[in-house]
Amino acid sequence: MTKVLKIGGSILTDKTKPAAARPAEIQRIAKEIASSVEDLVLVHGAGSFGHISAKRYGLPQKFSPEGLRVTHNSVVKLNDLMVEALGKAGVSPMPVHPFSCTLLRDGRIEGFALEPVKEMIRDDLLPVLHGDVAMDINRKAGIVSGDQLVAYLAWALRAEIVAVGTNVDGVLISGRPLKDLTRKDLPPLERGIGDSSGVDVTGGMRGKLLELLDLADEGIESVIFNAAKEGNIAGALKGESAGTKVRRAN
Ligand code: IPE
Repeated sequence: MTKVLKIGGSILTDKTKPAAARPAEIQRIAKEIASSVEDLVLVHGAGSFGHISAKRYGLPQKFSPEGLRVTHNSVVKLNDLMVEALGKAGVSPMPVHPFSCTLLRDGRIEGFALEPVKEMIRDDLLPVLHGDVAMDINRKAGIVSGDQLVAYLAWALRAEIVAVGTNVDGVLISGRPLKDLTRKDLPPLERGIGDSSGVDVTGGMRGKLLELLDLADEGIESVIFNAAKEGNIAGALKGESAGTKVRRAN
């Protein structure tokens, strides 16, 4: 049973300060993931290791070789921290850098080297991907968010559990999480969502929902949950849904 889990950058880092990791959170998250690591692909956000330098260099609108290199190298550092913490928690994590295995067309994934990821899963290794910069056939280069990677991988691997951890309890209406959400619910919500605390170049909650609604259209449901609350990640990996389920409209 393939599972795809995303941990948002807002949990792993302080999104308001450049390259500011939260080591205690990274360690706790690694331990929770270690409780249920079979057939899992992990994707983490870039947080302040990606969004701040992307914004500084004008990515993705501007083509900046230096911006690409600096942003990529920075998100790789966060990936190193995550991989190291997972290793210490007793699993066999493997870094997978989207910059080297993803091709975009107009900002959308056109090609992805899936076979190495599949082989890792078969060999009981845990692929650990992250939001990254990527080359783009039409725009030279762009940004591939962890959310887009989650939707792509969940679709390509026909995942049965898709869980997206954020720092809120789900999609909130008047401060309370919706239990279910379909595309029909989006228009009335649109004014209230989309903001992210700190710098975000990939669309915050709105961008996330658009990816997950597309995935739901393909018949794959997902859950948006609060990964900052202890126990929720372990629960989500077992298919327990604390948060908002993103479903296909009937
Ligand atoms: C963004 O990744 C990637 C870059 C800015 C390079 P995400 O969109 O997945 O990151 P978070 O979860 O919002 O931090």
